[in-house]
Amino acid sequence: MSKGQQISENFYVRGDGTRAYYFSNEYLVDLFSKCGFTLEEICVHNKQVENRSLDLVMNRNWIQATFTLNSAGPQGLNGQHDLTDVCEGKEDKLVADSSEKKNSSEEIDLSEDFCNMFGASHNLDEVQIIGVKARGHDFKIKMLTKEYQHTCKLTGLMLWESAQLMCGLLAENPSIVAGKRVLELGCGSAGICSMVAASYAQFVVATDGDAESLDLLRQNISSNLESNLLDRIMIRKLFWGNKDDVRAVRELSGNDTGFNCIIGTDVTYNPDAILPLFKTARELISDKSDEDSRAAFILSYIQRRVDENSILSNAMAQGFRLVDKWINGVHDSNGIISSWFSGNDVCSAYRNITHSILYFEL
Ligand SMILES: C[S@@+](CC[C@H](N)C(=O)[O-])C[C@H]1O[C@@H](n2cnc3c(N)ncnc32)[C@H](O)[C@@H]1O
Repeated sequence: MSKGQQISENFYVRGDGTRAYYFSNEYLVDLFSKCGFTLEEICVHNKQVENRSLDLVMNRNWIQATFTLNSAGPQGLNGQHDLTDVCEGKEDKLVADSSEKKNSSEEIDLSEDFCNMFGASHNLDEVQIIGVKARGHDFKIKMLTKEYQHTCKLTGLMLWESAQLMCGLLAENPSIVAGKRVLELGCGSAGICSMVAASYAQFVVATDGDAESLDLLRQNISSNLESNLLDRIMIRKLFWGNKDDVRAVRELSGNDTGFNCIIGTDVTYNPDAILPLFKTARELISDKSDEDSRAAFILSYIQRRVDENSILSNAMAQGFRLVDKWINGVHDSNGIISSWFSGNDVCSAYRNITHSILYFEL
C-alpha cells in the first residue's frame, strides 16, 4: 500500500475506506502479556478462499491463540513471553463454489465479524483533535483516536473521507446550500459539512441516530462556530425510519415545507439501512416545485457493501430521480457535480480514494 494510505505504523486505509492493521504473533502475545495473560498456544491457520467463477484463489491467515489470566497481573512493557507452543501453518480450505453460493462472484466478506469482535468498548477520553481546512474554514475537530478507529461500530465518532470531500465542495461552492433549509443525515460527531453549510444556509439541522456521536458533535460545533452562526444550526437525534424523530425534525423545517437540501456523507455502507435512509429523506425533503431551484438530496460515499444499483433502486422506489452522478471521478462534464470541482483542487486531495457522489431530486 502507498504512503498516502498509511495512518500510522502498520495501520493502513484501503481504497474502499476499510482499515488494515498488520501485526506479528509476537506483537499479539506481547499485547496480551502486558495485560496479564499467559500464552498457552498460538496457531496460524492458512485459509484458502477459492472463487471458482472468477478463477481466483485468495490466501487468508488467521491467528488463533489461547491465553490464561496470570494471577500476577500485567507484566509491563518488558513482559516476557514464551513462544515455544507456537504451531505455524495449520491449513484449512474454504471453497466458495458458484453452484452453492448465491453471491458467488463476490469475495466472502468477513469484515462484519471483525466489527462484532471489536465494537464493544469505547471511551470518549480516547479522543484526539485534528485540523480540517476548507476554503474560509479552519476547524479543530475532536474525534476518537486512530488507535480506536478500528472499533468499527463507532462509525459516528470518526471523521470519514466523504465528509471531508463534501466539506471541501461546500466551501468552494456555497450556492449548493446558500439560503436553503439544510438537513444533514448521519452527520456523526465531526459535523464539518453542517458547519460549512451554516455559514451560507437559512438554517441547518445536523442529525444522527447515535447519542454518543451527537454529544461529541455538540462539543465540536460549540468550539468551532462563532456565536452568530450557532443560532443557525440545530442538533437533533434522528434515527432513520423512527416516526417520532422524523416528525420532530420535519417540524423544524416548517411542517408543510420540508428541507430543500439534504446531505449524507458515508451513510450508505449498511445494506439494512438504505431503505430507511431513503424513506426518511423522502419524508423530510421539500416537494415544492415553485421554489427557485428544486430540492436536492446529495450523497457522498465510498462504495463498501452496498453497490450503486442497490442505492439507485431504493432511491427510485421512494420517488427520487438521479439527476447527476460522479463515480470515482467519472462524470458528465456538463453536469452539476463536475461544476463543483472546476476551478479548485478539491478533487486532487482524494485522488487515491474511490469516491462517489449522487445528486437526487424528486
Ligand atoms: C460512516 S459514519 C459517517 C459520519 C459522517 N457523516 C462522516 O462522513 O464523517 C455513519 C454515520 O451514520 C449514522 N447512522 C448509521 N445508521 C443510522 C441510522 N439508521 N439512523 C441514523 N443515523 C445512522 C452513524 O451513527 C454514523 O454517525
